[in-house]
Amino acid sequence: MKFASILPFVALATALPASNEVVQRASISKVDGTKFNIDGVTKYYAGTNSYWIPFLMNNNDVDTIMSHLQTAGHKILRIWGFNDAKSNPGSNTVYFQLFSDWTDYGGMAAYFSACGVSSNEQWYTAAKCQSLYQNYIKTVVGRYRTSTAVFAWELANEPRCKGCKTSVLTDWIRKTSDYVRSLDSDHMITAGDEGFGLAGDGSYPYQFGEGIDWEANLALPNISFGTFHLYPSSWGVSNSFGNGWVTAHAKICKKLNKPCLFEEYGVTNAQEHCPVESEWQKTSLAAKNDGMAGDLFWQLGDTIPSTGQQTHNDGHTIYYGSADWKCLVDEHIKRIG
Ligand SMILES: *[C@@H]1O[C@H](CO)[C@@H](O)[C@H](O)[C@H]1NC(C)=O
Repeated sequence: MKFASILPFVALATALPASNEVVQRASISKVDGTKFNIDGVTKYYAGTNSYWIPFLMNNNDVDTIMSHLQTAGHKILRIWGFNDAKSNPGSNTVYFQLFSDWTDYGGMAAYFSACGVSSNEQWYTAAKCQSLYQNYIKTVVGRYRTSTAVFAWELANEPRCKGCKTSVLTDWIRKTSDYVRSLDSDHMITAGDEGFGLAGDGSYPYQFGEGIDWEANLALPNISFGTFHLYPSSWGVSNSFGNGWVTAHAKICKKLNKPCLFEEYGVTNAQEHCPVESEWQKTSLAAKNDGMAGDLFWQLGDTIPSTGQQTHNDGHTIYYGSADWKCLVDEHIKRIG
């Protein structure tokens, strides 16, 4: 969520391939009504996010952290599929793509000078930007096309088009999801947006001003499931706003018979992590037969084995083994059953 600018291509993985190894699962994860089927099992699933795990260089670090998630019973880890550099950082730094400009791990803004635009709003419709982006998609999807570790492909992280007609993003999501589907007939595809633009109490997140018509986008034929995020303090709403936000999306998922993934959520006040976020989890789980398929909190924290250093604390981080972890992982997994 820190990366408010829009950043292309996020993969959701059920297990992260360490370097070039692909972890084999029984089958490719898929949609089953309004739920997900992982390894042949259809149920509500919990997981988390890690923007930093793809940047680790030591396979044992990755394997150890993944084993913590496995022990905890998490089945979905959402990771960044982008990390653009503006100059070659050398062999000891991970980067995914090289550009002449660079902002916040790259993303749409990294393409601007390469494709001759100056805003995200222009990026969605400029042919040169889209051909560069599709070339990147082709490379990433081609590499993991047959991997059972990939849960789903996501078109962007938090795409917005401020002040645009919602048709701009709907057209882009249609075109891009069709493109991914042309390369990969098996993995699920989702937009990766924050969930704006739907009927509700009229507060900012429900409005259409960020260029999103959530139901129209979810209805697109090659979009497999819907995503939404929840950051009340960034959005100027109260924490209790969250429960209605979850059920408003679930209602649309149920109507369209596609799963809803509550894909990022967080509060910055550490005292509120457990009481506030566990309420949202319970609301989501209670709607497991009414559209909700799973939830992933923002974000995973752990100690990196090779350095003994804790991963970055952005105020939302839930560290493995902490009291917050017990509350938001162990107890949640137990309730899910
Ligand atoms: C989904 O994408 C594929 C591949 O691009 C395309 O052939 C198909 O028409 C799309 N599905 C629908 C129903 O539009």
